[in-house]
Amino acid sequence: MGCSKWRAAFNFGHLKVQSKLSVFFTMILLFTYLFYCLNGYCDSLPRPVYNQQTDPHNKITFNDEQDKSSPERRGAHNASPASVVREQLSDLSRSDAPSNNISIDNTFGSKKFPQAIIIGVKKGGTRALLEFLRIHPDVRAVGAEPHFFDRFYDKGLEWYRNLMPRTLEGQITMEKTPSYFITKEAPRRVYTMSRHTKLIVVVRDPVTRAVSDYTQTLSKSPGLPSFQNLAFRNATTGLIDTSWSAVRIGIYAKHLENWLRYFPLSSFLFVSGERLVTDPAGEMGRVQDFLGLKRVVTDKHFYFNQTKGFPCLKKPEGSSRPRCLGKSKGRLHPQIPSGVLLRLRDFYRPFNLKFYQMTSHDFGWD
Ligand SMILES: *[C@@H]1O[C@H](CO)[C@@H](O)[C@H](O)[C@H]1NC(C)=O
Ligand SMILES: *[C@@H]1O[C@H](CO)[C@@H](O)[C@H](O)[C@H]1NC(C)=O
Ligand SMILES: *[C@@H]1O[C@H](CO)[C@@H](O)[C@H](O)[C@H]1NC(C)=O
Repeated sequence: MGCSKWRAAFNFGHLKVQSKLSVFFTMILLFTYLFYCLNGYCDSLPRPVYNQQTDPHNKITFNDEQDKSSPERRGAHNASPASVVREQLSDLSRSDAPSNNISIDNTFGSKKFPQAIIIGVKKGGTRALLEFLRIHPDVRAVGAEPHFFDRFYDKGLEWYRNLMPRTLEGQITMEKTPSYFITKEAPRRVYTMSRHTKLIVVVRDPVTRAVSDYTQTLSKSPGLPSFQNLAFRNATTGLIDTSWSAVRIGIYAKHLENWLRYFPLSSFLFVSGERLVTDPAGEMGRVQDFLGLKRVVTDKHFYFNQTKGFPCLKKPEGSSRPRCLGKSKGRLHPQIPSGVLLRLRDFYRPFNLKFYQMTSHDFGWD
């Protein structure tokens, strides 16, 4: 509007009085315009939005801490550089609309149900897997564990969908909640959402998994009875207490049986927690193939920290410290008699063999 007034001022320039009046009015208009601008009333320029943050809970460790905090408070965010750029691009194209009422919220894309879920297992390396996957520009994932199919199912599917990050065409929505794998109702519930859901299970030697699980609990409650006290129902006879969750979770064949009632084997990908450490790029290749993604996450994203003995992610964008797999420092490491571990290994052997048979995959735990 200022422009047309300027032109008017020049057009009528040959008439002195009118000219002076025009300049006067133009100045008034300009000042008014500037005044409103400075007060932020003319928000007609597009503003890229940066409400992506780095989730402080996304430490890459094998310590899949149970997320007790509400998933509503913890946002769903995943900022891979490419997706941020795309978000901004879509934001800019939207602002072409001749409107002064531009929403500053992220309104690109839409929230979809996850097409793929990491359903287990606790202490298997699920957090690491999700962090590795998030490097991929076509993967967007919830930061916290939603626990929808085990704890919050009564909140309804729309509540669940709302937790999801927005995705663009071609992007995959993901979440991970390791307790789904051992939840009786979870297979039916996931099936009800979509029978095409891709299911990823990160498994690890059930004996080392149990010890790792116990170690994590011990670090939170130091007064915990010893591992062998909890593992045996009767130490004399060596009867294993299968009701103890640290033991029960590792009976993979039983839990898988429950899932196979609803989903065919082709719906699953079993990721080796051990190989995720020894060959992260190789295992990530399998995962990307399974998800129908281009192999973007490759060995150039990882380096091996000799001191730590674990692979690390090359500096993720927006993060100053490297993210590595491996145990948290300062965690108590209980001494467990080797006889106890041997007994536990014997206990798991038939279940492991059954699991290899069911998945046609020898994980080499024996
Ligand atoms: C501006 O946006 C608000 C909230 O989305 C809406 O209620 C209002 O009607 C919009 N105004 C115009 C002029 O579009
Ligand atoms: C453990 O088993 C032994 C041998 O069967 C039995 O004598 C003992 O009572 C059992 N202990 C417990 C606590 O059940
Ligand atoms: C390797 O790990 C050690 C021990 O955790 C750490 O102090 C060091 O900074 C790491 N180095 C690199 C390059 O990540």
